[in-house]
Amino acid sequence: MSTSNPIHETVREHYAERIKSSASCCADNCCSPENNLYPIDLLTTVPTDIASTSYGCGDPITLASLKPGQTVLDLGSGAGLDCLLAAQKVGETGRVIGVDMTPEMIERAQVNAKRVNATNVEFRQGYLEELPVDSNTVDVIISNCVINLSPDKAKVFTEAFRVLAPGGKLAVSDIVTDGPLPEPIKISLSAWAGCVAGAVEADDYIGMMQSVGFTDISVKPVFFDKETVDAALADMGDELDLSSISRDDVYKAVFSAKITAYKPA
Ligand SMILES: C[S@@+](CC[C@H](N)C(=O)[O-])C[C@H]1O[C@@H](n2cnc3c(N)ncnc32)[C@H](O)[C@@H]1O
Repeated sequence: MSTSNPIHETVREHYAERIKSSASCCADNCCSPENNLYPIDLLTTVPTDIASTSYGCGDPITLASLKPGQTVLDLGSGAGLDCLLAAQKVGETGRVIGVDMTPEMIERAQVNAKRVNATNVEFRQGYLEELPVDSNTVDVIISNCVINLSPDKAKVFTEAFRVLAPGGKLAVSDIVTDGPLPEPIKISLSAWAGCVAGAVEADDYIGMMQSVGFTDISVKPVFFDKETVDAALADMGDELDLSSISRDDVYKAVFSAKITAYKPA
């Protein structure tokens, strides 16, 4: 499965490498192996290695307030942690679908689901911009640090709106910006794969959601600490000349956000 889009290719290679070496996150500590993004009583419901294989930037499970019987879709499900946590919340009468374009992630997520005997979860390989999911069938969409990676975010929101049932909820943790990023970062593909360069202004993010029909949109910033941003930059490899970049400009501009929105009933 491939597209001619160089961003898809770079991002897929980046996360295939990550999961093969089982290193965590967009940056080495954007969610540390200890994983401090979620309440501990939630995390301890899955084996430690599954809990620590997280590449996210927040806790969409708590944000989603899932209920038994719901159908949940995770955009960019990675190694499956959020899907497995969601599966517990929706119970046997609910179901969870994870979509990811990286085959290595899908394989790991399927192995993890088997390990915890989660029979109400399935993983589908596909693009967020062309979701392999029927229209009007999903109660809640979750996503963790993924939409910023898409080269066509407007298409992702169009697809999210299509698959949500009327009244359905979007509950997403993602990276957005407030102010411009330094130019060398903006044009770096590795910075895109590292969840920084692809991030857009919070107002633009909201505008894209509004234009496809989402309502009651809320974007609440959860600021990154400097260490997290430093780790993200360090992770971007030789392609980026860090000496030419003002760290303060990046610290000021990039933040993780809790985002919720609804498809009108
Ligand atoms: C930063 S990781 C987050 C994974 C997971 N949500 C988590 O919290 O651990 C991004 C994931 O999204 C997937 N991804 C990125 N862009 C995608 C796209 N356009 N379509 C489908 N999957 C995508 C990658 O393959 C990767 O597994």
